[in-house]
Amino acid sequence: MNCAERLVAIFGSQAEVARRFRLDRAVVNNWVKSGYVPARWAMEVEHVSGGQVTAVEILNEANARKPIRLKSRPDGESFFGSALSGSDTMNKYAPAKRISSFHPPQRTLMGPGPTEIHPRVLTTMSQPAIGYLDPVFVEMMEELKSLLRYAYQTRNPLTFPVSGPGSVGMEYCFVNLVSPGDKVIVCRNGVFGGRMIENVERCGGIPVIVEDKWGEPVDPQKLEDALRKNPDVRIVAFVHAETSTGVLSDARTLVEIAHRHNALAIVDAVTSLGGSPVLVDEWNLDAVYSASQKCLSCTPGLSPVSFSERVVDYVKARKDKIHSWFMDMNLLLGYWGETTRTYHHTAPTNSLFALHEALLLIREEGLDNCWARHQRHHIALKAGLEAMGLKFLVKEQYQIPQMNAVLCPEGVNEAEVRKTLLSEFGLEIGAGLGPLAGKIWRFGLMGYSCRPDNVMLCLSALGSVLDDLGYPVHVGDAEAAAHGAYAAMHAEAAKAKKKREAAKAVA
Ligand SMILES: Cc1ncc(COP(=O)(O)O)c(C=O)c1O
Repeated sequence: MNCAERLVAIFGSQAEVARRFRLDRAVVNNWVKSGYVPARWAMEVEHVSGGQVTAVEILNEANARKPIRLKSRPDGESFFGSALSGSDTMNKYAPAKRISSFHPPQRTLMGPGPTEIHPRVLTTMSQPAIGYLDPVFVEMMEELKSLLRYAYQTRNPLTFPVSGPGSVGMEYCFVNLVSPGDKVIVCRNGVFGGRMIENVERCGGIPVIVEDKWGEPVDPQKLEDALRKNPDVRIVAFVHAETSTGVLSDARTLVEIAHRHNALAIVDAVTSLGGSPVLVDEWNLDAVYSASQKCLSCTPGLSPVSFSERVVDYVKARKDKIHSWFMDMNLLLGYWGETTRTYHHTAPTNSLFALHEALLLIREEGLDNCWARHQRHHIALKAGLEAMGLKFLVKEQYQIPQMNAVLCPEGVNEAEVRKTLLSEFGLEIGAGLGPLAGKIWRFGLMGYSCRPDNVMLCLSALGSVLDDLGYPVHVGDAEAAAHGAYAAMHAEAAKAKKKREAAKAVA
C-alpha cells in the first residue's frame, strides 16, 4: 500500500482524509491515483496521522516517484568561464546543506490576520505561472475587478488590487491625495490612525489630529468641530474598523460630515471589508483601501482599493507631480484601467489568482451571509469568553465581530497564555499593541478562520490554559455557553424562516 492509500485506510475514506487536511476531495483523489503524496505534505501527514505515516516515508516515496531533477548539464561545466566554475567557489555564498524545504506547521489562526486560507485559494495559487499581459490573465483581471466591486458594493470603475500589503494601500491613498502643505484631518483612536498621521507628514502635509480614546469609536462631533475650526482642510482620514482595539466607527456619518465641509474622505477598511458592511456607494466613501489577508482570507501582499470619480478628478487636478513613481494613480491606470494594458510593474500573478478565488468564495456565499456568519460566531465566542469571566475592551454596540479584544485578567501573564496556546494547541491569537500591550488579547474571527470549530477550539484551549495557570474558570462552562448561543441563534433563524414561509403562503 502506498502512503496515500494508507491515509485513506487510516481515516476510512478519501472524503475524511480531505476533511482532516482541509483539502478538496479531488486533491486526495489525485494523491491516490498518482500513487504518492507530494513531498510538501510530509510534515503535515506525520502530524495529522499521529505518526502512523511518517514524514520520511512521504519524502522517500515522493522522491522515488518524482525525483527532483534540476541539472541539465554535467557538474563543473559553466557558461560563465572558469572564474565562477566549480562548486567550491559557489558554495562560499551558499547556506549550509542541511537546510531543507520549508514546511510550515498547521496552525489555527485567530489573531488579527493573516487568517487561515481556504484550500481552494491555496490550490488556485499553486497553478502554473502565466504572464501578466497574457490574454487569459487580462480576462481574469476584469473579473477580479468586478468581484472587488461586489465586495466593496460599488460601481467605481477604479477598483483594483494594489501590489503590496494594506500599508501600501494606505500610502497609495495619501501619496495621491496629499500635496505638500495640505492640511489633513486624521481621526486617531488606535494604532492605525497613528500610521495615517505618519503618512500625512511624509507627504509633506500638516496633520490636524482628532483624538479619541483607544477602544472608543471616532466621535463625529469632534470631527465636525475640527472641520469648523479648519475650513481649509480638503481631506479627512479615519479607520473604519480599528484592528488594535476591535472598535467600529460610523463611516457613513463621518463621510457625510466631511462632504458637508467640502472635504474628501480616506477610509481604512483593512479589517472591515468582508466581515462587516462596507457600502462604498451608499455611504459615498471617496478613497478606500483594504488588505487581502483579513476577512478576504487570501495570502498577504495585496491591497484592494476603490476610488470615486471625485478622487480621480481631484488627483488629475493636482499641479505637482505625485511623489512616488510606483504609486502614481495616473500611471498605474495604464495597467489596471478599463481600456489599456501596458507594462507598469510585474504584477504578482499567482497572488492575484488567489485573490480572484477568495473573492469568488465570498460571491458564492453571498456578502450578507458572510457578514452574518462573522456576527454569528462572534456572538458564540463572546458568550464563551464572558462565561469564563473575561471582559471585552469595547462597548457592545461598537464591537466588530471579526476582532474581539478582551482584557487580560489581573495576575495572569498575558504573553505566557499566548505562548502556551501556540505551543500546545497550535492556536495563534493576537497581543495588545501600544498602550494596550500586555493588557489585552485579540481574538480574530476573520474570513475562513471564522468557523464554529475554531470558536470551540479557542474556548476549550483558553479555558484549559487559564485553569493550568490557576485562574478560576470552570472548565466546560465556556463551551456550554457557546453551544447555548448557537442553539438560540439556530432557533431564532428557524422561527424567522417559518414566519417568512407563512407570509409567502398568504401572499
Ligand atoms: C486597520 C489596519 N490598517 C492598516 C493595516 C496595515 O496592513 P498590512 O499589515 O497588510 O500592511 C492593518 C494591519 O493589520 C490594519 O489592521
